[in-house]
Amino acid sequence: MASTIVSVVGGRAVKGDGEAGGAPAGTLTSVNPSRLTDQVAEVTLASAGTFAAACAAAKRAQPAWADVPAPVRGRAITAMGRIVEANKEALARLVTRELGKPYAEALGEVQEIIDTCDFFLGEGRRLYGQTVPSEMPDKQLFTFRVPVGSVAVVTAGNFPVAVPSWYLVPALVTGNTVVWKPAEYAAASAMALFELLQAAGLPEGVLNIVLADGAATFAGLEQALQAGTLDKIGFTGSTAVGARIGELAGRHLQSPCLELGGKNPMVITPSADLELAVEGALFSGFGTAGQRCTSLGTVIVHESVHDEFLAQFGAAVSAAAVGDPAQDVVYGPMLDQKFATRFEEYLGWIQPHHKILGSTGVGRVSAANPREGFVGDPEAGLFYHPVIVDGVQAGDALFRQETFGPIVGVMTYARLAEAIELANAPGYGLSSSIYTNDPREAFQFRRGVSAGMVSVNNSTSGAEAHLPFGGNGKSGNGSRQSGIWVLDQFTRWQAMNWDYSGRLQKAQMDVAELTADLDFRLTT
Ligand code: UN1
Repeated sequence: MASTIVSVVGGRAVKGDGEAGGAPAGTLTSVNPSRLTDQVAEVTLASAGTFAAACAAAKRAQPAWADVPAPVRGRAITAMGRIVEANKEALARLVTRELGKPYAEALGEVQEIIDTCDFFLGEGRRLYGQTVPSEMPDKQLFTFRVPVGSVAVVTAGNFPVAVPSWYLVPALVTGNTVVWKPAEYAAASAMALFELLQAAGLPEGVLNIVLADGAATFAGLEQALQAGTLDKIGFTGSTAVGARIGELAGRHLQSPCLELGGKNPMVITPSADLELAVEGALFSGFGTAGQRCTSLGTVIVHESVHDEFLAQFGAAVSAAAVGDPAQDVVYGPMLDQKFATRFEEYLGWIQPHHKILGSTGVGRVSAANPREGFVGDPEAGLFYHPVIVDGVQAGDALFRQETFGPIVGVMTYARLAEAIELANAPGYGLSSSIYTNDPREAFQFRRGVSAGMVSVNNSTSGAEAHLPFGGNGKSGNGSRQSGIWVLDQFTRWQAMNWDYSGRLQKAQMDVAELTADLDFRLTT
């Protein structure tokens, strides 16, 4: 039987009308996308009022949480990591069931939470500020990191637990309180992570979870910003919604942490190890059914190696195991019906000048449209043929727009400068990759590409959890997650000066001067 999932605000489950400021705004069923008859959870959706009430609860809980010594907050992060580790398989199984992520990948996803906790548990004992010399005697300068306040975290379902942890863990360790709004279709996985984190002993109201649709969330954000109960928004999702959130936050003089889409290029130069490049293109183009923000968008391959690359890539994709995510497959189903529907629209962008490779059909895999070697029952879920589209041109929609799904474009270039121009042309700037054995090409690419992340002889996806993660252009507003870099999202620098001279010493004016002889020259 499917479990029922409700929002939790200030430690209380929001079950009915009028609770926590709002009536429920309907229900939704979270379904296993690889077996559509399997209902994973019934989700009670919250209203904008409930969202705003959650922000108010987080705001109220924040001062006391900030007063908990940072090393003690760090101990909570230690506990979170251990609790998640002890539940690794159970959480990964749920992610596979609810989102259709192959089990090995789901285990990797849960590991990413553990890695994030490992990194940030020490931050409780570090969270360094600086002591800075003053220009005047008997005066000392300092810097302190202070929490931003109450934070709303709105996340996508393609990484239903790992990417949320990139926000929740550093936000909490630095003394913020959080309202987390996960993707509705990933509600059961999100609730499982919420319970695991909560088990670390967080006080009521420090971490809240609200299940709501996009419209209620946006209205809730608006209400909370208006009421002054929300100090920061973190958002992972589409470029279009990110732009709206940025606009809303900007009106309240806030800068959100935005992690948006990508059209991630892979450049393959004549010196590349083609076999390695094919492996990388298969993994980043079709892993997670192409539904990562770091998924490969377009392969930009040198004209001299195009034919050989395409032949190998076509063969690898044709041979790739697709199907039941509980088995050993490259990818399983689309995450949810809405992604399947949208992917069908993207398939409509294929034009007569394109050449299609990679499968025995295009579109949804079914008895009538079979995929050779399909693992399991294709009719049971939202399974789609992988598509390689060769002959992509710079004017094509397929080249310019993100196409969340198992589709990869291929085009050619003659000079590296041209490849870099093509890599940047769609205007995103999240991840990028170059396959080369020439260091000059690698560094020329790094310098020229507009992406926030550059891989050399590695695929566009699979970022490690302690390097800055984030993009430029249509991929984000320059904010970075992960590692030490995300601390600047969840803290603000406070500068302090302390004059213990007993008199007013005016900066820039009461500063002692040494007499320098600037005309001094050596005589030899
Ligand atoms: C995302 O798709 O939102 O680098 C994040 C990767 C993963 C994270 C992807 N570690 O592919």
